[in-house]
Amino acid sequence: MATDAQPDPASLTLKDGTPVWVRPIRPDDAERLQAFHAQLSPESIYLRWLSAHPVLSLAEAQALATVDYASRMALVATVSPAPEAELIGVARYGRVPGRPDEAEVAVVVADNYQRRGLGTALLQRLMWHAHRQGYRYWTAEINVANARMMKFIQRGGLPILKKYAGGSWQVRVELGAPPDEAAPAA
Ligand SMILES: CC(C)(COP(=O)(O)OP(=O)(O)OC[C@H]1O[C@@H](n2cnc3c(N)ncnc32)[C@H](O)[C@@H]1OP(=O)(O)O)[C@@H](O)C(=O)NCCC(=O)NCCS
Repeated sequence: MATDAQPDPASLTLKDGTPVWVRPIRPDDAERLQAFHAQLSPESIYLRWLSAHPVLSLAEAQALATVDYASRMALVATVSPAPEAELIGVARYGRVPGRPDEAEVAVVVADNYQRRGLGTALLQRLMWHAHRQGYRYWTAEINVANARMMKFIQRGGLPILKKYAGGSWQVRVELGAPPDEAAPAA
């Protein structure tokens, strides 16, 4: 049964017409997260983790799948609305320690689903949720070679501070005024 923390999956249509579904992560997604990670290209893993990270252990997957939907939140995209459907994208944030209005964001989309608008849709929904939770800033550590992610951030038109450190950009985005009550359009 759908609840506030676990609403029914929302459907959206990618740029090429493919339907996908988005819902908050659940603790029972741990093995699906491992399977999702296992099919990512080494490049996508590196850009997401900023390290090789070839295997996602069950303990790591369980920790990533178990969130409180406020200080830690994750949305997953799936190929169907079925509860056990395969994952094709994950966007998450975690509150930055000591900074109650700031969340660190990370996102990854399955290689064969990239460039179809899914990363943008996941991040927009995640930002909407973060805003409603009272966050005013989000931060991300982005590899300098990751033009896609920088393009996404810059395209949002929000005020950005970026600082170069050890091969990555530390990016801080001001989220601006709170959104309307309505959820973002798919
Ligand atoms: C970054 C990422 C999440 C974007 O997801 P996506 O679903 O491919 O993104 P979208 O389709 O919404 O595209 C966002 C923008 O990036 C551009 N883009 C996407 N893939 C690209 C590619 N391979 N090369 C150049 N630009 C690209 C798109 O053109 C788009 O801009 P546009 O709509 O103006 O053309 C995805 O590429 C990914 O998972 N990368 C690996 C992990 C990662 O880099 N995570 C970010 C650090 S936490």
